[in-house]
Amino acid sequence: MTITQEERGIIQRVLDHAEAGTTDMLDGVMTHPVSNYFDPDRVKAETETLFRTFPIIMGHVSQVAEPGDYFTNDDLGVPLLITRTQAGDIRAFYNVCRHRGARVEDKPCGKARTFSCPYHAWTYGLDGKLRGVPQQFGFEGLDKSKHGLVELPVFERFGLIWVVPSPQEDEIDIDVWLAPMAEQLQGLSLDTHVIYRTWSLNRNMNWRIALEGFQESYHFCYAHAKTACHAYLDNQSVHLSYGAHVRHAVPLPKILDLKDVPAEDWTYRPYFLTQNYLFPANFAQVQTDHVYIHTIIPTGPDTCIFNCMMLIPEEPRTEKAERYWAKNYDLIRIVFDEDFVIGEGIQKGFATGANTEFLFGSFECGLQYGRRAIDAALAGELTVPVKSKMAAE
Ligand code: FES
Ligand SMILES: [Fe+2]
Repeated sequence: MTITQEERGIIQRVLDHAEAGTTDMLDGVMTHPVSNYFDPDRVKAETETLFRTFPIIMGHVSQVAEPGDYFTNDDLGVPLLITRTQAGDIRAFYNVCRHRGARVEDKPCGKARTFSCPYHAWTYGLDGKLRGVPQQFGFEGLDKSKHGLVELPVFERFGLIWVVPSPQEDEIDIDVWLAPMAEQLQGLSLDTHVIYRTWSLNRNMNWRIALEGFQESYHFCYAHAKTACHAYLDNQSVHLSYGAHVRHAVPLPKILDLKDVPAEDWTYRPYFLTQNYLFPANFAQVQTDHVYIHTIIPTGPDTCIFNCMMLIPEEPRTEKAERYWAKNYDLIRIVFDEDFVIGEGIQKGFATGANTEFLFGSFECGLQYGRRAIDAALAGELTVPVKSKMAAE
């Protein structure tokens, strides 16, 4: 098992903190206006910026493993169609017919050679090109080449499918964007993992409340007193900020054993839960032997969708393996639900006006980093890198 320099640094930091009785802290407390959690204009701006111009994880490569495979998704408020072409490329489109806007494909997933609109049967290829128009004589002058499905940037990286949910003029440089997280995500081999379960929840809270539940571990021993608390060192997380993304490493109690192990024999993964925040709303939550990929998407000022897929290294081949993964799945559903019940309670409390601002403590580093990045994106100071036109030519 290889260990990176970054991981060595994380382990050392945890051991140093344990010895000194300290934890990772930022300079001070940050305040956050509570209106940001219910103001419709704010959520509209967040949706238009964060959920239209940044890459969002929409699936796992196994969902479009072969040419002709496709899936659709409406969660972002824009209907999407994601396909694997005969040439093997992955493509993403608005699932919107160019004639009069019907949903071109209604099924959640399947295999197709072409997509035929249910309204008047305009037909599109897996590459989005408009192939056929019944009774085309009624559309004199129609240039079919200009009426393909509207295409969106889509990328396969680390076994995951990332979509930027609006057309972009410039070519996005996804590798530069994900670079700070690439080494560890690559090391997980998620492309060869299988989806054990997926689930999608509509919850009655602003998306940022759900998001913040994954950005600190201060709450573990209170909100998850009977479930996750004992599995980790209390409030001993290390947060590594990369401007937009954050690696949040939560140590297991057994990490203290590494004090007596020579550094050259250290390994990382057995000793940590790592919540990787990939701006703006993607998480790769790495457990010791499996991974949860989740996204949180606003659907209104006080509602959001939580999507999660549980990825495991291989199909369970024995009853014992099946039982093991089922137990993990059942537990994570309970733990996440503990967060969501509290989150929905927070949302209800806004009507009281009891708080005008929330406090992000100095060891709630992920909250502070996350807020700064969101504010920077809304101010236009944080954008996805694009390839320079000169370089592309
Ligand atoms: S709307 Fe699709 S063919 Fe008319
Ligand atoms: Fe939690």
